[in-house]
Amino acid sequence: MGGRVLSVASECVPLVKTGGLADVVGALPSALAATGWEMKVLLPAYRTLRAQAANWPVVWQEADLWGGPGRVLAGDVEGVPILLLDAPHHYDRDGGPYSSPTAEHPDNAVRFAALSWVAAGIAREGLDGWKPDVLHAHDWQAGFAPAYLAYHGNGGVKSVLTVHNIAFQGWAPAHMLGVLRLPGHAFHPEALEYYGGISSLKAGLVTSDWITTVSPTYAAELMRPEFGMGLQGVIAARGPVVSGILNGVDTGIWDPAAEEPAFGPKSMAGKAAARAALCAEFALDVPGPLAIVVSRLTDQKGIDLLPAVVPDFILGGGGLIVLGSGDPGLEAAVRNLAARFPGRVAVRIGYDEAMSHRLFAGADAVLVPSRFEPCGLTQMYGLRYGTLPVVSLVGGLADTVIGASPAALAAGVATGVTFHPVDAMAFGRAMAQLLDLYRQPKLWAKLRTNAMAQPVGWEASAAAYASLYERLTA
Ligand code: ADP
Ligand code: GLC
Repeated sequence: MGGRVLSVASECVPLVKTGGLADVVGALPSALAATGWEMKVLLPAYRTLRAQAANWPVVWQEADLWGGPGRVLAGDVEGVPILLLDAPHHYDRDGGPYSSPTAEHPDNAVRFAALSWVAAGIAREGLDGWKPDVLHAHDWQAGFAPAYLAYHGNGGVKSVLTVHNIAFQGWAPAHMLGVLRLPGHAFHPEALEYYGGISSLKAGLVTSDWITTVSPTYAAELMRPEFGMGLQGVIAARGPVVSGILNGVDTGIWDPAAEEPAFGPKSMAGKAAARAALCAEFALDVPGPLAIVVSRLTDQKGIDLLPAVVPDFILGGGGLIVLGSGDPGLEAAVRNLAARFPGRVAVRIGYDEAMSHRLFAGADAVLVPSRFEPCGLTQMYGLRYGTLPVVSLVGGLADTVIGASPAALAAGVATGVTFHPVDAMAFGRAMAQLLDLYRQPKLWAKLRTNAMAQPVGWEASAAAYASLYERLTA
């Protein structure tokens, strides 16, 4: 039992993060350790990571990685075994993993093909005696890795592709097929062709031995046109090898007992103090529930619905703090709300991990009105902190929050507020319900107790990944 997994991704906490992908990739190796599966994570040596790896040993060399050589450096970051692909012509650049400060890199297809090529090479041949049993690829950035195993030899390695977000598909024009080291005979709709071009995500979907996505509901949604974003047929065709494994959250990092002031299910005084501190920090005076949004500000997240529902929520006594950045139009929309409701609505445009902890600790509710949500992590932070989630019934949100329906209230199992469909009307009703629940302190306390008792750690998910690896390699 047990074995070795090479995980390949473009982001990994604590090294580089733009979203939940990084949290998951960074948490899996330690979560799996107890199951007997050893995982190393391969990611690009972006400019921000090169200095830190300067003295790491070189464990792999590649002569021709599309315009220059590459080498892999091995190290350890906070207990996680890391392999960094150092190919300066691809990764030693200003900006984030995918973009310069002004625009998306035009050569992303090749940049991440290089990562996938090296991943497949290491998986196939092994690294100084460390031979993986499974290559685990994450999202479009690693989608070509299973394809390279399939078309260039797999060395006995099984492959798993995890879809964290179908919206990003890694598109390249058809004429790049040969450049990307993919075979011409596979350029047809059942294999690599995708709407006349190439998609690295589709390449991974059709060539991997198993496909997972990050919640059971999203796994089912992905086979439907409303959510599949063009790939629904591809995924449905592979239905027998598709499964949903819910993400966990790092309960060491997200721990109310480790916040200042500390609190927990048995002593909520610290949470009340955290709320007061939060109101002081943001100059708010909120008689009703204090809600937060901590999110990328994009269409996916339903942020555009806020202007329609917030005014009534404020009128009912509520308050709101938004922490996030993204779409300039959505940033302006939330700024506008803060200007309209001083003392009740505050906005911080930016990314701030420490502030996000203060928000979850001090707030009464977290809003996640996503149009689609493969898993979502912030509703789980909310559960753990007794900060009741208000969520749309999609993807992982539907799998993690029990809405305060009459039946759930009667059974005493509700942990938050849910709504469907994802529109301003249903979201508005959910916010009205939140106000109503807050006016009933005993009921509110019951929901909070339920929420905080829900297990949101990695144990169950790590066991599910381990048993998947076992099945594949048996
Ligand atoms: P997604 O990956 O789609 O952005 P998730 O809910 O899976 O959504 O993960 C988002 C992660 O990023 C969470 O850990 C969340 O707390 C964090 N996050 C998002 N925006 C911010 C921000 N502005 N400041 C701090 N943390 C943020
Ligand atoms: C993606 C999804 C999010 C999920 C995260 C980690 O970014 O948008 O729902 O939680 O990946 O799997």
